[in-house]
Amino acid sequence: MAVKDLTLSNLILSTEDEVTPKVLNAMADTDDARIHEITTALVRHVHAFIREVRPTETEFEQGLDWITRLGQLTNESHNETVLAADVLGISTLIDLINNDGMQGETMSALLGPFYRGESPPCGFGQSIARSDTDGESLLLIGRVLDTNGAPISGARLDIWQASPVGLYENQDPEQADFNLRGVQTTGPDGRYLLCSVVPSGYPVPTFGPAGDLLNAQKRRPFRPAHVHFIVSAPAHKTLITQIFMDTDENMSDDVVFGAKSQICGKLEHHTDHHPDFPDVRTPYATCTYDFVLKPGEPTFPTPPISGKKDKENTNG
Ligand code: BEZ
Ligand code: FE
Repeated sequence: MAVKDLTLSNLILSTEDEVTPKVLNAMADTDDARIHEITTALVRHVHAFIREVRPTETEFEQGLDWITRLGQLTNESHNETVLAADVLGISTLIDLINNDGMQGETMSALLGPFYRGESPPCGFGQSIARSDTDGESLLLIGRVLDTNGAPISGARLDIWQASPVGLYENQDPEQADFNLRGVQTTGPDGRYLLCSVVPSGYPVPTFGPAGDLLNAQKRRPFRPAHVHFIVSAPAHKTLITQIFMDTDENMSDDVVFGAKSQICGKLEHHTDHHPDFPDVRTPYATCTYDFVLKPGEPTFPTPPISGKKDKENTNG
């Protein structure tokens, strides 16, 4: 625990320069060392930012209102707070600090605001399209391996993606509940295979404070086409990632800075029926990607949303 300075404790503030030491001193009794480290660094950096920018009182009010609206617009089918962290590059920075990909494991990517959890199971070769979804059929194919190249049996893949119109089912009352979401478990050969539709790139929601910021910064709100995966297995670190379509030209212009060349799947187009899955309508595409998990403790993210927008709700 930090030691309190009695002179600062007894000081009654009168100048700008006295504020930061007085606030830090007031926090000195924090028992939890990590909370103390985080909160004192926060105060030092935020106060330094304020000294640099010297906001007016009106700008301060506007800043607080921007943060207030993040909470007000967050509900079961939309998470504006996560979206704001994503467009500011905060989520990708935290992701890369915690996941450097240096042990041969697949690179991770940010979770994003649209992970719902509780998706229905999807057997090998089954489809995650639960609505009549236009667009080219897609087979997502690959294996889950450990860092020695051995297949992982019983690995769990939690998958979600936007429809070809660029909306996740939680945003779109026209799509069935859990459309384009599913969970598949690998067999002894570590293989997964599921049917879907080729995703398109899409704009992130811009009706709230995150969108106001993008607008002011003259930024395109687009994400390149991708499919989200959470891949987990006992005794392995859970991988949260996205597989990008190698045909998308906008890989370097991702509004949330998540696209990486290491996590591009190979998209191939086919006109003949698939020999093992003749029900897949032609022409169809395949996207092939092998995931590599490193040893570790599995952990699971808290879903940023839990449900679907209804027809009356205009947000999200
Ligand atoms: C997504 O990929 O689902 C996403 C990520 C960040 C912001 C918005 C959407
Ligand atoms: Fe996405």
